[in-house]
Amino acid sequence: MFILFKIFHDIAFFSWDLGLTFVNLVLPNRPVGKVTPEGHPGYGGKWPEYIPPKEGDSRCSCPALNAMANHGILPRDGKNIQFKEMGRLIRTTYNFSSSFCYFVPHYAAEKVVKKDYNNDTFNLDELDHHNGIEHDASLCREDSALCPDQSKPHVEYITQLLAHATGKDKDGNPLLTMKDLAKYSSKRRADARSYNKKFTLGFIHRMFGSSNSSTMLTIFGGRVKDLETVLLEERLPENWESRVRGKMGLTFAAFNLTVTPVELMISEKKYLKEKAAKEANKDD
Ligand code: HEM
Repeated sequence: MFILFKIFHDIAFFSWDLGLTFVNLVLPNRPVGKVTPEGHPGYGGKWPEYIPPKEGDSRCSCPALNAMANHGILPRDGKNIQFKEMGRLIRTTYNFSSSFCYFVPHYAAEKVVKKDYNNDTFNLDELDHHNGIEHDASLCREDSALCPDQSKPHVEYITQLLAHATGKDKDGNPLLTMKDLAKYSSKRRADARSYNKKFTLGFIHRMFGSSNSSTMLTIFGGRVKDLETVLLEERLPENWESRVRGKMGLTFAAFNLTVTPVELMISEKKYLKEKAAKEANKDD
């Protein structure tokens, strides 16, 4: 019976997401400057005051959720958050679709935190359960076996990631591209595999890795200047709004047009080959 319910639930979910994707194709985008809905934090580019976390506040491995707490969009102490409320706030802050904002908090409740989606609350640090959504070879954190506190940005990796940007916007500002993201992910996976004795990264966590990092290209448009603020300070830049302008927000189906190519381009083998070639050239 449960399996039948699960099949029905998944078919309903993916139909809903595809429906929203279709609506986005036919309706005009939200105008620039009007992506964040009126009456919600961030409307007109005005984000509530940024206050970095204090001793005792709860933060996690997700820079986007930490930024919401640092602006008081989620509770500033990062505690007693309702799953449903988090989904609603992700939708208005970042313009993800209602399907995404239902599915991910639901997954976090059931599979990571192991709590009731409708009735329970959680603290941000509970999301850091290793190999729930959190995984090895992240781009913004050291592996949890080497750094059990996953709440703080790992400055060295973020700086290296942003230094990989090869794209340019129309004003010449640096942009991170799919290729750049795949190249740095290849390095992180190969390096972490070599020095973390407890390293694991199965298929599902490779996909989570590419999904999380692909938000840097979709929601943040690959803009290095914005990403510096978001990833290093866990703060939303003044006047920032989501780069996704679809009326229904970013759906899973549309998101996968970025996530899948990024994942397919990641190659630890290629990275190791290029590294060996560079070292051989140095020795000559
Ligand atoms: C319910 C919603 C969400 C949950 C439960 C969640 C959870 C997580 C977790 C556990 C990580 C750590 C993964 C790792 O080990 O690298 C993570 C990373 C990340 N998330 Fe989220 N997240 C959510 C929403 C979002 C949203 C809305 C965005 C973008 C606007 C976002 C952007 C990111 C980014 C950029 C990373 C860093 C990836 C990396 O270091 O490689 N997340 N998220």
